Amino acid sequence: MLRDPLAFLDGLPGDRPMLRLRLGPSTLVLVCDPGLVRQVFLDDRTFDKGGPLYERVREVLGNGLVTCAHRDHRRQRRLCQPSFRADRLPNVVAAATAAARQTTGAWRDGQVLDVIAESMAFATRGLLGSLFSTSLPDATGERIRRMLAVLDDGIFRRAFSPALVNRLPLPANRRYREAAAGLRREVAAIIRARRAERRDHGDLLSTLLGVAGSDLGGLGGPALSETEIIDQVQVFLHAGVEASAVALAWSLHLLAEHPAVAEAVRAERDAVLGDAACAPEHLPRLVLTRAVVTEALRLHPPAWLLTRSVEQNTDLGGVRLPAGTAVALSPYLLHRRPELHPRPELFDPDRWRDGPPDRATFLPFGAGARKCIGERQGVESVVTGLAVITGNWRPAPVVAPSPRPRALLMPRGLRLRVSAR
Ligand code: HEM
Repeated sequence: MLRDPLAFLDGLPGDRPMLRLRLGPSTLVLVCDPGLVRQVFLDDRTFDKGGPLYERVREVLGNGLVTCAHRDHRRQRRLCQPSFRADRLPNVVAAATAAARQTTGAWRDGQVLDVIAESMAFATRGLLGSLFSTSLPDATGERIRRMLAVLDDGIFRRAFSPALVNRLPLPANRRYREAAAGLRREVAAIIRARRAERRDHGDLLSTLLGVAGSDLGGLGGPALSETEIIDQVQVFLHAGVEASAVALAWSLHLLAEHPAVAEAVRAERDAVLGDAACAPEHLPRLVLTRAVVTEALRLHPPAWLLTRSVEQNTDLGGVRLPAGTAVALSPYLLHRRPELHPRPELFDPDRWRDGPPDRATFLPFGAGARKCIGERQGVESVVTGLAVITGNWRPAPVVAPSPRPRALLMPRGLRLRVSAR
C-alpha cells in the first residue's frame, strides 16, 4: 500500500460494504459503502481521531485542530472558525495571486517543470501570505518553506515506522528533528513580534491572536494559549500547503492532457479577468476553472485515505467493531465508483458545471464536524493560481519520458513543459 497506493486501492473489491485489511502486524477496517462512510464521518464521538498514526502526527504537529481528539475539538474549532470567515477571502486571493506570480516569475519559455515542486512553492507562499500577510520577510518565508519540505518528506515515513527507528541517530531523523524544532522557533518569534505590534493585519494570524486575547468565557474553556496558537499555525501550514499543492499539480496535469479544455479555461479567464488581477468578485464567474479543480479533486483527492479509531464498542452495518479498532475511509474509492460517478476514470469537468457536487458522494474535504475548515481557502487559492498561470502559460505533457504519476498524494515525478502564451 505504501509503495503504490493507487494500484493497491484499484485492486480492492470496492463493491463490498467493508473490508478487513492486514497491514503488517495491524488490521484496518476499510469502510467502502457510501452510507456507512457517512455514518463514520458524522459520529465523531465513536469514530475519533486516534490510534498510532495520529499519535505520531501529534508528535510533530502538536495537538491542533487536525490532530486533536473529540474532547478538545469543539472548543478548538470554534476558536479557529473566525480565521476562515468569508471576509478573509480578499487576503487569501491576494496572497494566492502574489504566490503564483512569484512562482511563475522564474519560468522560461519551453522549460520542463517538476510540477509538484512548483506547486509546493506556490502553495507554501500562498499560505504563508494568508497566515502572515506582508509582515513576513522573504528570507523567513524561504526558511519556513525549506523546513516544511523536510517535515513533509518525513511525516508519512515516520508515521509508519517503528518508534525505535524514528529515534535512531540517522541523518534523516536529525534533519527532521531540527526542522521540527526550527519551525516552532520561527512561528514563536513571529507571534512575539506580532503581539508587540498590536495591529490587525487582516490575516489568519491576526484573527487567531484576536481570539486568543478576547474573553470567550461562553465557549466552554479558556481561549487559545500561546502553545496552541503555534500548534494551529503549524497545522494550517501542513494541512493546507500539501493538499492545495496536490490539487494544483493534478489540475495542471489534467489541463496539459486535455488541450481543448485548457483552451476553454484560458478563454474563460480572459473573458472574466482581462488584464485585471484576480479578486473575490471574479471567482464565481470562473465556472469552468472551478469545475476543473473539482474534477481534479474527484479523480485525485489529496487525502485519499483518512483514519479513525473506534472509541467504544459499536456496530457498523451489522458488524461489531470493538473499541480500539482502526477504521479507514477512502474518498478515492468512493470517487471512482461507477454508480456514483458514471465513467469514473474519465476527466469530465462538465459533471460540475450545473451545480455543486453532492456531498454524500464527493468527499475530498471529508464531512461532519471534522470537515476541512480551509475548504474555501484551498479551492479559491487553487482557482486563483490556475487563473494566473493560464493567463501567461500553456502546460503540455513532455514527450518522453513522462512517467505515470504513481503516488496518489504527491504526483512526484510529474513533469510538464510550459510555453509562454
Ligand atoms: C484543496 C485543498 C484541501 C483539501 C483537499 C483538504 C482536505 C481535508 C480533509 C479531507 C480534511 C478532513 C480530514 C479527516 O476527516 O480526517 C481536512 C481537514 C482540515 N483541513 Fe483541509 N484540505 C485542504 C485545504 C486546507 C487549507 C488551505 C487549510 C488551512 C489553511 C486546511 C486546514 C484543515 C484543518 C485545520 C482541518 C481539520 C479540521 C477539523 O478537524 O476540525 N485545509 N482537510
